[in-house]
Amino acid sequence: MQDNVENPVLNSPTVSSVIKPMGHYPLPIVRGEGVRFWDDEGTEYLDAVSGEWVVNLGYRHPRVIAAIKEQLDKIEYVTPVFENEQRTKLAEKVLSHAPKNMRSVLFALSGADAVEGAMHLAMRATGGTEFVSLYGAFHGTTFSTLALSYSYPKMLEGSKEGLDRYLTRQTRVPNYNCYRCPFDLKPGSCDLMCARFMETAIKHQPDAKVAGVIIELFQSNGGMLPMPEGYIETVRDICTRNGVALIADEVQTAFGRCGDFFASNVVGIEPDLIVMGKAFGAGQPLSGVVAGEGFTSLRGWEAGFTLMSTPAVCAGSIAMMEVMEEEDLGNHSRVLGAHFMERLNEMKERYSIIGDVRGLGLMIGVELVKDRETKEPADELTGFVWRDALQEQRLLLGKTGPVFGDFGNVIKFKPAVNTTMVEADEMLDRFERSLAAGQAYHDRQN
Ligand SMILES: Cc1ncc(COP(=O)(O)O)c(C=O)c1O
Repeated sequence: MQDNVENPVLNSPTVSSVIKPMGHYPLPIVRGEGVRFWDDEGTEYLDAVSGEWVVNLGYRHPRVIAAIKEQLDKIEYVTPVFENEQRTKLAEKVLSHAPKNMRSVLFALSGADAVEGAMHLAMRATGGTEFVSLYGAFHGTTFSTLALSYSYPKMLEGSKEGLDRYLTRQTRVPNYNCYRCPFDLKPGSCDLMCARFMETAIKHQPDAKVAGVIIELFQSNGGMLPMPEGYIETVRDICTRNGVALIADEVQTAFGRCGDFFASNVVGIEPDLIVMGKAFGAGQPLSGVVAGEGFTSLRGWEAGFTLMSTPAVCAGSIAMMEVMEEEDLGNHSRVLGAHFMERLNEMKERYSIIGDVRGLGLMIGVELVKDRETKEPADELTGFVWRDALQEQRLLLGKTGPVFGDFGNVIKFKPAVNTTMVEADEMLDRFERSLAAGQAYHDRQN
């Protein structure tokens, strides 16, 4: 038997009651409110990433909590084969904000099983069996979503043998990444090679037909990357002409994060299937797929889960969406996102360790480099800044891990979409202090 030799915390007998995920950090969090949480000693932290980009209205939003409690007082569970009023109401609410071609919602529990639901729907609609995903993509840790994820050989290092028979064959193609173009081309003169290459990948499948292309509309784990202009339109066209489903993985980008309920609306695209997760349940386990015209059929009980869309979870999600509507939080996300970008770009002028700042609404990445000319990734320095923020500034930031994409040198900001301007400035002020510490650390070493 092989214990986790990398992380001694996992081997400690005192904490062995839970198998902890990679990247575990021993901070006992006991209470949260808005953009703040507290540890078991009463220390307050400011959260610039809404948990794990999950509590989009912050912790314990009163409307969400009240809706869940009210529903729990009526009934806590309805079998998925009966009608469930909250589930119907939630599906209608989702569809009212989804692109025009969307017709139905398939519910699930986590992002990964929803991706698999979208794969089923795509296979049924197209008759294909293969999927194309991008370099740097992350779609989950079930067997088939691991296979779609760029990270899986690294994530499973040392334990891949034996899993191979469960991991379906998938095709990975170069991603969009204008800062580090996989084709070594320059924006403006590249003629969107990354998008056009998709057609080659779809057509050159000698023994099987492609059912779907799956794309994050802002690639997160791969490095916080926005799509270049024209990219998704080109891919949409390629998918339509080849009878292949375009699946937008909006597990991270939906529910106000990018400036609208769905990032699909922000970039003006009608995918065939949209995958939802993370913020969808407002802190509770809920995910799903929004299925477009012609993509709504499954066979039998192909993608269903006993605990999907329970009434109280749906009630919390509906309350979250009502607050988003009433407070026009999509727009707020755009305005606040612009403020973040402005201040971060100002910091870029003052701190040479910032190589690039990228964002769409409140989905923001800051890439740290050792040298702006060579763009050498500053993984260790990024870890230093992330830790300094948490330990010295009491600010929780996100960070890419080298296990998920190619590098671990991007700091992530994904605060609650109802963060106020004052709270945003507090996050940015604290970040700047850690960045200054990081710059001094870098200067000392060079
Ligand atoms: C883009 C994307 N898709 C899918 C998933 C899988 O979601 P879950 O962890 O809820 O299964 C994730 C999780 O990080 C994700 O970022």
